[in-house]
Amino acid sequence: MADDLDDVTDESSESSEALIAVHWREEGYYPPPASFVAQANASDPAIREQFTEDKYPDCFTAYADLLTWYKKWDTVLDTSNAPFWKWWVGGELNASYNCVDRHLETHPNKAALIFVPEPEGDAHQAITYRELYVRVNEFAAVLRELGLKAGDRITFHMPMVPELPVAMLAAARLGIIHSQVFAGFSGTAAGHRIADSGSTVLVTIDGYYRSGDLLDHKVKADEAVEAAAKEGQQVDKVLVFRRYPGQYSAKTPMVEGRDVFVDDLLAAHKGEIVEPVALKATDPLFLMYTSGTTGRPKGCQHSIGGYLSYVAGTSKYYQDIHPDDTYWCMADIGWITGHSYIVYGPLALGTTSVIYEGTPNYPDAGRPWRIARQLGVNIFHTSPTAIRMLRKVGPDEPAKYDFHFKHMTTVGEPIEPEVWRWYYDNVGKDEAVIVDTWWQTETGGFLGSTLPAIDSAKPGSCGPAALGIYPVILDEDSNEVPAGSGKAGNICIRNPWPGVFQTIWGQPDRFVSTYYAKYNKDPKSTDWRDWPYFAGDGATQAADGYFRILGRVDDVINVAGHRLGTKELESAALTVNEVAEAAAVPVVDDVRGRMVEMYIALKPGFDASPEIEAKVKAAIETDIGKIARPKNIWIVPDMPKTRSGKIMRRVIAATSNFTDTGDITTLANPEVVEKIREQVQTAK
Ligand code: WTA
Repeated sequence: MADDLDDVTDESSESSEALIAVHWREEGYYPPPASFVAQANASDPAIREQFTEDKYPDCFTAYADLLTWYKKWDTVLDTSNAPFWKWWVGGELNASYNCVDRHLETHPNKAALIFVPEPEGDAHQAITYRELYVRVNEFAAVLRELGLKAGDRITFHMPMVPELPVAMLAAARLGIIHSQVFAGFSGTAAGHRIADSGSTVLVTIDGYYRSGDLLDHKVKADEAVEAAAKEGQQVDKVLVFRRYPGQYSAKTPMVEGRDVFVDDLLAAHKGEIVEPVALKATDPLFLMYTSGTTGRPKGCQHSIGGYLSYVAGTSKYYQDIHPDDTYWCMADIGWITGHSYIVYGPLALGTTSVIYEGTPNYPDAGRPWRIARQLGVNIFHTSPTAIRMLRKVGPDEPAKYDFHFKHMTTVGEPIEPEVWRWYYDNVGKDEAVIVDTWWQTETGGFLGSTLPAIDSAKPGSCGPAALGIYPVILDEDSNEVPAGSGKAGNICIRNPWPGVFQTIWGQPDRFVSTYYAKYNKDPKSTDWRDWPYFAGDGATQAADGYFRILGRVDDVINVAGHRLGTKELESAALTVNEVAEAAAVPVVDDVRGRMVEMYIALKPGFDASPEIEAKVKAAIETDIGKIARPKNIWIVPDMPKTRSGKIMRRVIAATSNFTDTGDITTLANPEVVEKIREQVQTAK
């Protein structure tokens, strides 16, 4: 518990990203093209008046009304157990019904999903709403046969294949709480999440393509089951989708009695229908794990009614999704962006959502644009890291292909204005709007963004608050930092919104202490005004009301849009026998935004060597995954420390980023700072 309370106060948060944020100058505005405005879902500025504070929380019924309910709610927002907010209390619905069944009446033969395999010679697979219905029902029948029921947890460790949304929607049909772990995470990382969620069933796949290689994915399932067992969680069944019969699935060892191929199970359920269960709006839909300050990941629990209404509403107004669009979000379903804006939001609105298996620049940087042209994609959603990379390796590629976007999104990290402009001019071809959406795993959907047909975009800023969201920037003493002051502070949301997560699975105290305790005025209060949500991001607000997000103020490093906890990285490094101390800091990277640099001090008697570096790297890849691989590992003679023995990450981060170390006179060993600086900066 003491560890949990450290989430927002630990001195080590001095390594925070916001400290190394680059402050861009104010940019000009880009108004939406008339052609976009003419067709937009929200083009009348009066929509803002429907979401003003005097109409809150009822304003959000506009979002809930986008869904089909078995029973309407009695209470919009129940705050009686603050800050465990409950939305649409008394209401009943089913997410699978809303994303699949209800579209059968209007457009059964329209593609719900178009799957694009990475090998360019492999055909696209269009899955109509009717086919999706059949596949979801059959897989739900399999889950039911295994004895899974509403409230049980199931873990998926799946790559970007259509079997993943099928599995999610099948679980949702029965009220089984799904927890999808990003496929790039190691088996061990999946195992921790299986144990934390108490899942008894793991769903995986034999293999998938990534950057031209067919990866053996089943091997990770075996590691995951073993890691979960070490934490006392037994996995009874591992369901293996078979994508490559004759390749990995032929070679993959299957554990007798535990591992089963999904197609063998499906054979007994051909054409079976599983009625969607009417669930409470406040029941959980899924868990999405994310990193925090402590080593233990946080299972963010999202509700059925609140979450689904919020992603449907924001998909409609911010992504401007219409049923006849072809929408492509090039994120991974293993992250919240994919849950909200590949699967649940777009499918709730009955559109066509593209799923691409591979890396954007495989086999070359023209790939995304060929996909866009072939499928007629008109809404495109991606991250600054992907944009930076495509700009670097193929700046002229978009012009070679005849595709036309009306709308583009950037999400997950701050985007540099010059990168934004390349995206606008070259990918958008000066015809598309861009929304820069700021939000988090915890928030379910967008918190800050322009309304694309109403507000002009301003490169480098996410824009004003989303409809019905009332943010405030607070300093450490709870004073408001005024708009236009040029000062940064902690961005908070003053009010609950339907998409906000309900709790951290199994850690309710950590939920309150991390997100609400910092600015809470009275722990007993049931008035939402007393419970600002602490987002963990530094931000400024310009005089025009637009927010600029500077980065995390806690011990989270956002690498290429993926959140990594410094404690997780450091504990992985500390498993190496020779390592005495480890510190992870963010370093600015021209493609990935931020990367991790590890500083290592060795135990007495050991000398720095490439072998030790390799061991540290391997330990991080085993515990977390390749995405966490540090940009550099520096084995240093000693760590700069305070007199009380705390590692001064601020000083280390300054060394890595060539910025000012600030006052070091109070350190116990100020002389080491110069040594480290010389070592690191000469090597760079
Ligand atoms: C960062 C991803 C700047 C921020 C949806 C946040 C952003 C963290 C933006 C959440 C943006 C997200 N501009 N920074 N438009 N969007 N971030 O949970 O630091 O993977 O706290 O959710 O990404 O990352 P997460």
